[in-house]
Parts: sequence; C-alpha cells; structure tokens
Amino acid sequence: MIHLDFAKRLAVKAGDIILKHMNQQVETESKTSGKDLVTEIDRMVEKFIQQELTATFPNHQMLGEEEAFASADKYKQVLDDFHSIPFIWIVDPIDGTNNFIQNIPGFVVSIALVSYGKPVVGVIYDPITDELFYATKNGGSYLNEKKINVPHVDHLNESVIGTSFSSDTKVRSLTVRNIEMFLPKCRTIRVLGAAALNLAYVAKGRLTSFYHFQLSPWDVAAGILIISEAGGKVTTMKGTPYELSESSILVSNGFIHQQMLDTIHVKN
Ligand code: IPD
Ligand code: CA
Ligand code: CA
Repeated sequence: MIHLDFAKRLAVKAGDIILKHMNQQVETESKTSGKDLVTEIDRMVEKFIQQELTATFPNHQMLGEEEAFASADKYKQVLDDFHSIPFIWIVDPIDGTNNFIQNIPGFVVSIALVSYGKPVVGVIYDPITDELFYATKNGGSYLNEKKINVPHVDHLNESVIGTSFSSDTKVRSLTVRNIEMFLPKCRTIRVLGAAALNLAYVAKGRLTSFYHFQLSPWDVAAGILIISEAGGKVTTMKGTPYELSESSILVSNGFIHQQMLDTIHVKN
C-alpha cells in the first residue's frame, strides 16, 4: 500500500506541473525524427519523479522514457534484466506529448512499479479531467477511489476501438490497414493520441479494445495492470502472452478479444 499511495500522490503532483505549463510556449526538440518530439516539460517532470522516487525508495531502480532515450545502453540492460530486478519504477512523464504540444486535452502521467518483470502497482493520471486510474496486483482497479470493471460487451459491432500512430511511417501504414479492417465491423474507432490513456479507458469501459504496433514499456506498464485487474485481457497482436519487452499490444474487455485477433493483420 505504501508504494501505491506514494505513486498516486506522485502522479498527481507531476500532473499539476504539466498542467501549469499548458497553453504556454515550451521548448521542443525532435528525438528520432520530426514526428517524435520531446519538450522541456517532459524532461522536467521525469527529473522531478526521479528525485522523489530516489529520495523515498533509494534501493529501487527507475527507468523513465527520456532517460532511456538518452542512455540506450541502460535501456537495453533493463530489458535484458527485467525478470531479475526486484523493484523498478517504469515512468512515462507525459504520455501524449503531441497532444500537450498542440494544447489538445489527452495527456497523462504513467507510473508503474515492476517486480521481477511484472507490474505490481500502476497509476495513470489525467491532470485535465483530474482522473486517477490505479491498480495493484490482486487488489483490483480503481478510478478516483471507485472500483472499476470492464463491461460485458461481447460483439465487435458494439465495440469502440482505440489505436494510435507510432512515429515510424511503416508502422503507421499497418495501423491504418487495421483501421480499414475494423471500421466496417465495429461501432467506431477513436485515435486519442496517448497510449496509456487508451489503456485506462479500456479498463473503465470507455473503449472496448485498443491495439498498437510499436510501444515501449513506459507506455503500457501501468495500463496493463489496470486492465488485468479490471477483468480485461492483455496479449500481443498475435494473441501470445504479453511481456514488457514486446512491442505490439492488444488489450480488450476480454469478451471481444478473439474477434479482434480474427480481424487483425500483423503484416503490411
Ligand atoms: C506516444 C503516445 C502515442 C503512441 C506513440 C507513443 P509519447 O507516447 O503514447 O499514443 O502512438 O507510439 O510513443 O511520446 O507521447 O510519450
Ligand atoms: Ca508514451
Ligand atoms: Ca512520453
């Protein structure tokens, strides 16, 4: 419980920092390409989270998105060692950076505590709506202190599916190809622009499913626990068990998972 309470408070504090800088001129840089941006606020918030975590849990490790980008060796090492690390915090300081840059609502802080490769605490905070989604392993999922469970929607034609576009154009084509596959079969599709927010919404039943072809551990570590604890299902796009080192992900309320897998195309 101390880990969860700490992560909840930390995510809200981090979200407040982000919100203060919305609608302001912020410094922006491209990372791998002009489609992959980072702002000074992403870095500032990650540093803040790192300082708070180190001060409170000096024996725990942490991997944040921006640190992983700056130190590829550390990231590779963590991916190789995931299953032997007792406690590592996986952090996305702003998931939905493009929304933040454009002043479009739809960005969150995502913080997970991972133990021996599996998330045991997951917190996702949306500072605009003041919605705090969280879960602990075997402790259920909650939104602002109220328990949440995936709803019983069992047909693709009643489903609202989420997806999102990676910065890699090849992956974007595959995502679009699948939009074409799903659109005739489902109620509708939403592209909200923040993977972690989509995962929280699947847990709450606002979305029935979400698929993505290229994500990193910080995008999903908190969300996959929140979905599993809300009774949903998490696999790769091929239907195999999802590990944090995988890049493709399919999540759903469970009831429509097989119908999603039957429709998905995993190659261009
Ligand atoms: C991105 C968002 C987006 C997803 C991208 C991610 P960022 O994370 O989650 O929805 O499609 O692949 O990289 O850069 O905003 O933290
Ligand atoms: Ca992200
Ligand atoms: Ca990010």
